[in-house]
Amino acid sequence: MEISERMKSMEFSPIRKFYPYQVEAEKRGIKIYNFNIGQPDIETPKGFMERIKGYKGEVLEYLPSQGLPELLEKIKAYYKKHGMDYETRDILITNGGSEGLMAVFSSIFNEGDEVIIPEPFYTNYKIFLSYFGAKIVPIKSHAEEGYHYGDREKIEKLITGKTKAILVNSPSNPTGNVLTKEEMELILEIGREHSLYVISDEVYREFVYDDAKVSSFGVSQKGYEDNLIIIDSISKRFSACGARIGMVITKNEAVKEAVMHMLQARLSAPALEQVGACFLYELPDEYYEEVRKTYEKRRDIAYSEIIKIPDVICKKPRGSFYITIKLPVKDAEAFQMFMLKDFDYNKETIMFAPCKGFYETKGRGLREIRIAYVLNEESIKKGMEILRRGLLAYKERKEV
Ligand SMILES: Cc1ncc(COP(=O)(O)O)c(C=O)c1O
Repeated sequence: MEISERMKSMEFSPIRKFYPYQVEAEKRGIKIYNFNIGQPDIETPKGFMERIKGYKGEVLEYLPSQGLPELLEKIKAYYKKHGMDYETRDILITNGGSEGLMAVFSSIFNEGDEVIIPEPFYTNYKIFLSYFGAKIVPIKSHAEEGYHYGDREKIEKLITGKTKAILVNSPSNPTGNVLTKEEMELILEIGREHSLYVISDEVYREFVYDDAKVSSFGVSQKGYEDNLIIIDSISKRFSACGARIGMVITKNEAVKEAVMHMLQARLSAPALEQVGACFLYELPDEYYEEVRKTYEKRRDIAYSEIIKIPDVICKKPRGSFYITIKLPVKDAEAFQMFMLKDFDYNKETIMFAPCKGFYETKGRGLREIRIAYVLNEESIKKGMEILRRGLLAYKERKEV
């Protein structure tokens, strides 16, 4: 018996592969600050659990495959508040944004189709796309340019007869890059001119800082309705990753129908969590602003500590809760191993995500790491101090 060729070629998630070394370090009494995973520490709004506790049904039934009608209404109102006219029939509830991505990919890609994606990108795109045999064509972005890629020439030169879609993620995981409204419109325009789907993963929508405004490709969808497909989720916005509620939003009738085939086959998204999610979409604007400010402050702390470290390359990111840093090391994975096996500062060390797995192009991203600033301010300060000291120790061992 053999597993599929497709899965044989997949590497372990760059985030999970250090787990055994984490366990070993912890056994030695080392405290580890986890900057490696995008699991927010912010409390899930209490009303979420309370709404679930108040559930009166006696049988926990399947819900309609498209989603709980009450939740669809609430999401429609949320989008309206942000200047977007989506109807409930344009919203399809999924098991997290993850299932939304898979349902969309399965709906639009044939074996051998190409999808243009700025790299570095959310690493799971690679796994999901490989199910359907779609090939990633990366738009190369660079630490030195703050991972900017919103450029017509850069994108258009990658389009071939096989290109089916452009997939973007703003605010970005892992770079924190945020597209401007003009860049979003440019990408939609390119999509329409070349008859491409534009898949916009907006799961970090509210987490924008400085002069960046909360926005969406959906705001500019007029004239591009058939091109645009939005992926959204409650995981990060409401710190509810375990609820597994996400959504696909589009006005493209054929895509909706195809996605619905998938959703009907998997029957239902989680029922109680959809009940709880109704509460989340009733939260006032102050909730979003408070969370946004929390992350902005953390971003400021992390960034100001990072730029004190000699020889790192890091432009201040304007969104999400990630910072990608180019380190003065040859191989960030080897450096992570050193931090877990051979280094501690006062019995403490850190984990981060080496960026190799966020790239499609072989050899790119080896020197980069992603820091998820999902810990409190004190831990971020300590963690970045440990990173600085770890780099010094690594350099002394001439392992750079
Ligand atoms: C860019 C991006 N898209 C989608 C997801 C999937 O999120 P979920 O399935 O929890 O909604 C994540 C999770 O980290 C992400 O970072």
